[in-house]
Amino acid sequence: MTIISPSILSADFSDLKTDIKKVEPFVPWLHIDVMDGHFVPNISIGIPVIKSIRKITNLFFDTHLMIENPQKYIDSFIDAGADLITFHYEAAGDNTPKIIEQIKRRGKKAGLSIKPNTQAEEIENYINLCDLILIMTVEPGFGGQKFMEDCADKISKIKKLSDKKDLIIQVDGGINDITGKLCKNLGANSLVAGNYIYKSENIQQAIETLKK
Ligand code: DX5
Ligand code: ZN
Repeated sequence: MTIISPSILSADFSDLKTDIKKVEPFVPWLHIDVMDGHFVPNISIGIPVIKSIRKITNLFFDTHLMIENPQKYIDSFIDAGADLITFHYEAAGDNTPKIIEQIKRRGKKAGLSIKPNTQAEEIENYINLCDLILIMTVEPGFGGQKFMEDCADKISKIKKLSDKKDLIIQVDGGINDITGKLCKNLGANSLVAGNYIYKSENIQQAIETLKK
């Protein structure tokens, strides 16, 4: 089964509840992109928004932190309602195992993400500590960018490097019917999609296409 996680970065922020309700019947997860203007050149949503939307949906909150010093904010994101916290290896470095432990101690799922220029081998020692590995297939920061095909090889590399049968390998950035299929064939079992879902005329159909 492929876990589809619609990215609300492509939703209408003036009517977030409506846009969450549009995907809710068809998916188990919601992808929430948090950007700090330092780790990435954009600022998006943060803790108060997550706390508010926690009240209107039971979807599993797949929280993607594109921030520096993630360890400083883990507890606040969990208190706000995050179910899974994915942080970036490039922001965490040697603190990576400590942060995974910090997330797991609170009973939540831990994800580790790598940007396009980071190789799969660099996180080799941490893969088995994680519930999820997120391979970015665009430079993080903005929705609606073009899928970087050369990042897709990392999917099979991560799969090979892991001993975990239940590891979730997620891809994020430029996912549509074609790139989603390619990633699934390489071993991805979770697809994040922003524009492909939210800018489509038939949201249900777009989601069903990604699942297939
Ligand atoms: C980009 C974000 C993505 C983004 C994906 O930095 O991490 O989650 O919303 O958007 P699309 O699917 O439009 O590329
Ligand atoms: Zn994301």
